[in-house]
Amino acid sequence: MSHIQVAQRVTRLPPYLFGRINKMIYDKRTAGDDVIELGMGNPSDPPQEMVIDKLAEAARDPRNHRYSKSNGIANLRREVGAKYFKKYGVRLDPTDEVIVCLGSKEGFSHMCLAMMGPGDTAIVPSPYFPVHVYGVALASGNVITLPVANSDKFLSDIAYTCETLYPRPKLLILCYPHNPSSVVVEQGFYDEVVKLAKKYGLMVISDFAYADVAFDGYHPPSFLASKGAIDVGVEFTTMSKGYNMAGWRIGFCCGNREMIQALATIKGYYDYGMFQAIQIAAIVALRHTDAAVEEQSVIYQGRRDTLCDGLARMGWEPNVPKAGMFVWQPIPEPWRSRMSTMDFAMMLLEKGNVAVSPGSGFGPAGEGFLRMSLVENENRLKQAVRHIKQCLKEAEDEWTAKGEVTTEAGKP
Ligand SMILES: Cc1ncc(COP(=O)(O)O)c(C=O)c1O
Repeated sequence: MSHIQVAQRVTRLPPYLFGRINKMIYDKRTAGDDVIELGMGNPSDPPQEMVIDKLAEAARDPRNHRYSKSNGIANLRREVGAKYFKKYGVRLDPTDEVIVCLGSKEGFSHMCLAMMGPGDTAIVPSPYFPVHVYGVALASGNVITLPVANSDKFLSDIAYTCETLYPRPKLLILCYPHNPSSVVVEQGFYDEVVKLAKKYGLMVISDFAYADVAFDGYHPPSFLASKGAIDVGVEFTTMSKGYNMAGWRIGFCCGNREMIQALATIKGYYDYGMFQAIQIAAIVALRHTDAAVEEQSVIYQGRRDTLCDGLARMGWEPNVPKAGMFVWQPIPEPWRSRMSTMDFAMMLLEKGNVAVSPGSGFGPAGEGFLRMSLVENENRLKQAVRHIKQCLKEAEDEWTAKGEVTTEAGKP
């Protein structure tokens, strides 16, 4: 009998759904297979040279190796405020309305801890980015998921939930451009959110991780640009995606000062702030690399077109995203009826050497979908489509050889 009794907050977490896939990717790579990785939204392009140079220069300065401030250095918070003003016309007080986080995921989780407790409920859009649900669960809160696909319906579902649930939900989590579904909204959506938040006493967290990655002239709006938003909520942004700095772990939370203060209090106990050299290099990135961030979106747009064209040529019907780093792809029949999303993804990996994320990794609403990320280059994406096609042809032949008959509806 083990003496180790792990806390319930750990044991009540579900098994990590991507574990099986990650293990197979590892085993295949160890065996020398070339796996095309369309699973995680983990950028593969490097940050700008000048940012890396600044990091190296700052790392050589002995003054930068001490503990830093847990809410971030003042110049970086000022730069984040300047970006919000330039891009969204939002004025922020860098002292009380901006905080630096060790990646936006860390900030988000600790914000949940700062806002939620036993008996509190959060509304989360589904399918969901896992930390949107488990950040709340780890803070002992409850979650109600509402479908994100139709934004008008999502708003009316929020109102209905607030009218009918007792005690009322306390927190509304938003994420646009949405991961995994790539749903986007316009500013008017956030105007309505602010009205609902004020009417029902909801606090809002907007996860704006894909703020910098958008296509075809679309500009993702900021929640904070809606009138009164700062009275009811905060917004997280990150340097992981548009700036290709995912491994650096640098993100920001901006907006309502009471919520930021609560996050700062928690962070003050948990961490000593980010390596100062990273913060200094991040200032350079924010100040001088706008053009590169835009160029990166153009690169993702090219990859999106390559992948969606390839899938369409196979007879699939891709959801062509306007922003973000993913194609949220419905699995076509007969495969959708034949096997679970997880088994389908495992088959593509095992037989086709293409790793994708099964939609069920984003909750039950993701069943029947695959999330394919745009982190590989266009040649590799073309190769991925060829592999998928070949893999499905072989599986179909096997299916037929076994004497399985597929009806129109895809049911054997
Ligand atoms: C919606 C969303 N939020 C947050 C994150 C995490 O970002 P960060 O690297 O800033 O922690 C991701 C990363 O995949 C994401 O997709």
